[in-house]
Amino acid sequence: MKILTLETSCDETAAAILEQKDDGSIHILSNVLATSLLLHAKTGGIIPEEAAREQIKYMLPVIQQTLAEASLQPTGYNLPPPVDAIAITYGPGLIGSLLVGVETAKTLSYVWNIPIAPVNHLLGHIAANWVVGDSTLHMENKKPRATSYELPAFPLVALIVSGGHTDLLFMKSFDQYQWLGGTRDDAAGEAFDKIGRMLGFAYPAGPMIEQLAKDGNPKAYNFPRPMIGSDDFDFSFSGLKTAAFRVIQEQKSMNEQTKRDLCASVQQAIIDVLIKKTLKAAEKYDAKSILLGGGVCANQTFITQLKQRATTYQLQPTIFAPPKFLCTDNAAMIGAAALLNYKPIPWQKMTANPELYFD
Ligand code: KG4
Ligand code: ZN
Repeated sequence: MKILTLETSCDETAAAILEQKDDGSIHILSNVLATSLLLHAKTGGIIPEEAAREQIKYMLPVIQQTLAEASLQPTGYNLPPPVDAIAITYGPGLIGSLLVGVETAKTLSYVWNIPIAPVNHLLGHIAANWVVGDSTLHMENKKPRATSYELPAFPLVALIVSGGHTDLLFMKSFDQYQWLGGTRDDAAGEAFDKIGRMLGFAYPAGPMIEQLAKDGNPKAYNFPRPMIGSDDFDFSFSGLKTAAFRVIQEQKSMNEQTKRDLCASVQQAIIDVLIKKTLKAAEKYDAKSILLGGGVCANQTFITQLKQRATTYQLQPTIFAPPKFLCTDNAAMIGAAALLNYKPIPWQKMTANPELYFD
């Protein structure tokens, strides 16, 4: 089955064409993304109405390009549709942004007379781990991706860490899951962004903090690891933000090395908590795999340390992290979630749900 998939929940306008093979693996035929990140970097964050206005401009050209890159012809009314179904993010996210994608997808479903499948953006981040390479693709650093691959095995534990969410899930299958816990205040990505902002970095600050942390000392500042020992799977990052704020304010002058040390220490505090809770969940639920998803998983220091620490556990779960371009928001992950649990609905029933969480 070939699907067109759209994602507009936050600041991206994305479309992709995907195909699922008999082994369950999901292959990208094309993957296009227009971002209004530069606009948001200027204002220090996302202004919802501005984001939606940009998405309205980008939506149709992005669809046109994704069809062209998959060598599919855009077709009109009464002509055979170029794909078998459409998948669309219906929440959570910004209402104006979600509506751009949802209403476009509904229109295409109606005009092409093909099914439309709603996708929870958060499950999309997890589904990105089923997307595998195709030797003809040149999306990441213009290099082909692996042609041999291992797919995640159930039961598994999934950690979603993005700008808006920090959630741990236990999954018996893709549609049978239990939410184990999440953040009580700021999300991990939000902590990166807010602390980065105090240091004068543009939004989103995660990549810059990771970059500077490479030459910094993670032990230079002993920041709190909130809730690291708590008897649950919840997280809290606002205390760390306050602690970092205090240290930054105390600096009389901030030289480059101090900045690097601050970045490394903040990053280490966040990573330590994420790793501890994820491995604890994997152990408790006998997970065969640990799946990571969301923008913060683009952080290679986090992935490397998680892999290292996982080897000290008795049960050695395989750790899956999507390639960078599938960690941050994209349409391919949304299509992957739709294919893993294909449940189309009539377009008349499709509505955006900005508050959507886990059912
Ligand atoms: O998943 P995503 O693209 O959008 C949301 O759904 O939120 O995640 C964006 C978040 C931002 O907070 C950004 O700072 C963070 O992911 N991020 C990173 C890195 N790359 C992106 N955080 C830490 N290290 C990175 N390399
Ligand atoms: Zn996201």
